[in-house]
Amino acid sequence: MKATARAYTNIALIKYWGKRDEVLFLPMNSSLSITLDKFYTTTTVEFCSCLSTDVFVLNNKLANEQELANVTRVLDLIREISGKEYRGIVNSVNHVPTAAGFASSASGFAALTAAASKALGLELNSSELSRLARQGSGSACRSIHGGFVEWQKGENEDGSDSFAKQILSNHDWDLSILSVQLNYGAKVVSSREGMKRTRDSSPFYSGWLATIEQDIKTAKEAIQSRDFEKLGQIVETNAFKMHATTLGADPPFMYWNSATYDVIQEIQYLRSVGIQAYFTIDAGPNVKVLCDPKDEKDVYEQLIHMPVVQGIKLCHPGPGITYLSNSSRE
Ligand code: DP6
Repeated sequence: MKATARAYTNIALIKYWGKRDEVLFLPMNSSLSITLDKFYTTTTVEFCSCLSTDVFVLNNKLANEQELANVTRVLDLIREISGKEYRGIVNSVNHVPTAAGFASSASGFAALTAAASKALGLELNSSELSRLARQGSGSACRSIHGGFVEWQKGENEDGSDSFAKQILSNHDWDLSILSVQLNYGAKVVSSREGMKRTRDSSPFYSGWLATIEQDIKTAKEAIQSRDFEKLGQIVETNAFKMHATTLGADPPFMYWNSATYDVIQEIQYLRSVGIQAYFTIDAGPNVKVLCDPKDEKDVYEQLIHMPVVQGIKLCHPGPGITYLSNSSRE
């Protein structure tokens, strides 16, 4: 009753922003992402009749009460499917720079779902895993798959049709994704709180919903036809729109800081001199830059020398869930 799985984090190309059901983690809109090859979580789950409660060790430290409760909620769903009542020890190691604002919840809940279901002897397909991971953190449902992924929002009230599907594998189209870490602190409004406040109070949220289906369609067309420029343009447009909704929230908030804007301007400058690079930003100040692999060195060199930039991690599309034998885990 023991298994180890690894899942890689993902960045949203077209954002998930707002829930229609907060208990089941059902989104207001569909979203698209790329799974990255550099940031991941490795999780081992071992169930035992000897335990009376779940135990969660995160990065070699006992997790706090809230973190344990979030893990137990997902384990309960998996226990229910398996019909087994055993409690488990979860040992999770994040290879994601969380302090720098990169989300580890996506890779974390994807790895947890895969390891726990395997440890209880379940042979779940990727749609089933995706539906379960979604209930730990919405974006986690996309990290079940590698490459380019769509989370279809679904229509059903029970969430049965709300899960992620792969559009292209990580071997089908190579892109460079530069994760640019800035010299500033952590975000002040979590994505969970931010999307709720925006949905509940921003007059701009209806504009977000009115155009999101078209954004998804445009981005999918660009991915299918490997049209980098078209993809880059819609990715930027969609990021601007998401961040614009937060300015209309009550109380208003923004995830950008001055360093974020410095990097945006640098990317715009690069395009003006003929280098195709595009940015996106999630619920924090850091910027992710997309470019063609042939340009990655130039883009890196241009950004790394900016005083506001603390570091850059160069990523490419990465794989989906990987199961590890107990001898090969880190
Ligand atoms: C801005 O998946 O972290 O990164 O479902 O509440 O856990 P919860 O939220 P989360 O939100 C991610 C928001 C985003 C956009 C995205 O990844 O699509």
